[in-house]
Amino acid sequence: MSKALTAPEGVTWKSRWTFILAATGSAVGLGNIWKFPYITGEYGGGAFVLTYLACILMIGIPVMIAEVMIGRAGRSNPADAMSRLAKESKRSSYWGLVGVAGVLSGLMIMMFYSVVAGWALDYVAQSASGAYSDLDAEQIESNFGQLLASNGQQLLWHSVFCLLTASVVAAGVTKGIGKAVDILMPMLFVCLLLLVGYSAINGDFAAGLHFMFDTDFSRLNGEAILVAMGHAFFTLSLGMGAIMAYGAYFPGHSSIGKTVLTIAALDTVIALLAGMAMFPLVFANDLVPGQGPGLMFVTLPIAFSNMSGGLFFGTLFFTLVSIAALSSSISLIEPGVAWLERHGFNRPLATFGLAGTAWLGGIASIHYEAVFNALDYLTANVMLPLGGLLIAIFVGWQMPAPRVLDETGIVSSRVFSAWRFLLRYIAPLGIIAVFLHSLGLLTW
Ligand code: PFF
Repeated sequence: MSKALTAPEGVTWKSRWTFILAATGSAVGLGNIWKFPYITGEYGGGAFVLTYLACILMIGIPVMIAEVMIGRAGRSNPADAMSRLAKESKRSSYWGLVGVAGVLSGLMIMMFYSVVAGWALDYVAQSASGAYSDLDAEQIESNFGQLLASNGQQLLWHSVFCLLTASVVAAGVTKGIGKAVDILMPMLFVCLLLLVGYSAINGDFAAGLHFMFDTDFSRLNGEAILVAMGHAFFTLSLGMGAIMAYGAYFPGHSSIGKTVLTIAALDTVIALLAGMAMFPLVFANDLVPGQGPGLMFVTLPIAFSNMSGGLFFGTLFFTLVSIAALSSSISLIEPGVAWLERHGFNRPLATFGLAGTAWLGGIASIHYEAVFNALDYLTANVMLPLGGLLIAIFVGWQMPAPRVLDETGIVSSRVFSAWRFLLRYIAPLGIIAVFLHSLGLLTW
């Protein structure tokens, strides 16, 4: 029965590999290069990294398999895919509301994501013009402060980024984006490796590695665990239907398990490499790793300003960060666009309507730091885990097991049972426990 369903309007990715690249493009973004290093810095290093890795393995990967499965089985946008599968399983079609909430989460993420992506674009221009190549560490720090103080400059780049995102989405994701990520993701990877090499030679690599991998659990409080779990969702683009929306275009009926493992592994390796590129430089320059969102925009320019070829590498690095952000932001509004399209809007109108809404929200983020912080905190730490919880319950408890087995295409019955166990018990209980713990209602 599942094989008879075609993707929305018959669109599918060219191959399974294109899906992997598109989903990796969604997963790898500012979360890996900007957010992961600075929250690791804020929450104390190794124990945080370990908690985050555990969340990826025990919760993130199982939920991602569930999302791809729902998208491919439902062959529609997240809201319609979920209500279709719910009806088919004789459950309430209100399950579709999880997809609708996802559209809202995507918009809310875009409202601060595009602002940070705008900073990266600004840094492309600054690097290319050599603006920070002769500055010392302190001047570079205040240079970033100046950008944050200039609402006009932030608005300019934020607008450019929203426009870029909207143009790609309006043209359709399956065509251009596959080819783009095919070239750009390996470039990002190579560039990060070069930076890790630079960092190993010029930075305090040992201190950086100690910071990332020494585990001092006494520093791990409820909030840190919540943030680690929230980040696992954020970095894998889970809990809001982005991966589901892409799953709707998944070609054929091959197993989802290995595909998802590849995506999660690439995402995790890139986050760890980003940390390894930055922390040795932080320590070598006597900077503090817990300084917050400015980490990438302060430490890397410091490194580049000391580096021969820094002008070139700096420009290249921030270009690639911008592109990584773009391949993620596309997936932030795609679920909403696909949903509106299904309900009678044409694609360009739906795209510009949603991107315009995110653009307005972004202006609020630029003007009020509290709005920026609230959107970031609420989406990553509440809405995405909650979305993931409902998705896990839906696939784990509401859909009949034989149907789920057929749709995931997982051949080994042991792997299937292990995955289903994680999805039915570990993921929901883990998410609930972390929520309760962070509210102070559960201690351990
Ligand atoms: N995964 C992206 C990142 O790490 O930057 C952010 C993101 C994209 C979150 C798409 C959620 C999403 F649906």
